[in-house]
Amino acid sequence: MESNKITECQEQNLKVDKIPEHYLKLDDDALREKIKVAKKTLGNKLYIMAHHYQKDEVVEFADVTGDSLYLSMEAAKNKSVEHIIFCGVHFMAETADILSESWQNVYLPDENAGCSMADMANRLDLEIAWAELTGKFGSSNIIPLTYVNSTAQIKAFVGENGGACITSTNAETIVKWALGQNKKILFLPDQHLGRNTAYNLGVELEQMAVWNHKNGKLILPSTDVEPLIILWDGYCAVHQQFTMKNIEKMRLEHPDVQIIVHPECNFEVVQNADFAGSTNKIIETVQNAPNGSKFAIGTDNNLVGRLQQKYKDEKEIYFLNFYSCSCATMNRIRLPHLAWNLDNILNGNYQQKIEVDKQTATSALKSLEKMFKIMQN
Ligand code: 13P
Ligand code: SF4
Repeated sequence: MESNKITECQEQNLKVDKIPEHYLKLDDDALREKIKVAKKTLGNKLYIMAHHYQKDEVVEFADVTGDSLYLSMEAAKNKSVEHIIFCGVHFMAETADILSESWQNVYLPDENAGCSMADMANRLDLEIAWAELTGKFGSSNIIPLTYVNSTAQIKAFVGENGGACITSTNAETIVKWALGQNKKILFLPDQHLGRNTAYNLGVELEQMAVWNHKNGKLILPSTDVEPLIILWDGYCAVHQQFTMKNIEKMRLEHPDVQIIVHPECNFEVVQNADFAGSTNKIIETVQNAPNGSKFAIGTDNNLVGRLQQKYKDEKEIYFLNFYSCSCATMNRIRLPHLAWNLDNILNGNYQQKIEVDKQTATSALKSLEKMFKIMQN
């Protein structure tokens, strides 16, 4: 499915990078060779992590692949390696830096690989929202939760205010814990993950308000019912592309298909799918299904293409929306970036290093540690 050819649009992306021109001129074989040699030279001083949405050419060189939760746990437990290259997006590398030791270096091969959803919540807007919401509902009556797809600054605010971080794998556990505190929840930044998770735990849609971060207004679904959960109005542009039309078309063409989506998809899509789960859960579901099973999957194309390829002789796997686009920022990391990052490490140039300032990291760590603690109980 995936071609290793660099498209015009990707070529454009590469050009706005700070990457030296000559890396872009090397062919894939030369880049692969460079990466292999550098990996060998760095040996066990190096650990390459890759999220499931990375391109095949990057996954090929990863020491570990996983979803956000798995990778953050790997970063937390790997205390012996000096250089961690995180092939993913900015918030993932920040999380790895927060969870690793101060002498360990975490790198993001392309500093422009951000997450548009994480960028929908910044600390200033959150402080404005917090002042308004605590003014309305009482200063000790709200608990903040942030999806790991958020900046270190947001995680820090949440940590400072007694809240926890969550991932799509542990969302139900953490939201259940927060509901048990008998407070309202402010859920950042993905309204869909928040709504889908809270609904599964029995919260009615009428009990969910939305915080419009652009105009600083709370949108209440009903004036008669007090909101229990306030959803920041962020969303993922990739998962917005999956619609009811896609589901209806797929069921019409393949009546026996099982539809799996990521919980970042909207409420209607998740309600009408057969299963919703994190990238790891999506992979497990396909892996554990008997041969002959048919799936249509609504998440990033790189992952769906890889599953299609892996199970091509055993299971039928379709793209829920064949025309959907992959996560553009996840796709920024390619062979030239990896080769450049490795050369930089070998030359003692830490240009791609991601470093969260100490004060932010200390507070952000509180929200991550709270998440790990709740998971253990
Ligand atoms: P996972 O935690 O399920 O891997 O999801 C991360 C993500 O960014 C999905 O868009
Ligand atoms: Fe962010 Fe969406 Fe890309 Fe995931 S798929 S990294 S949520 S923009």
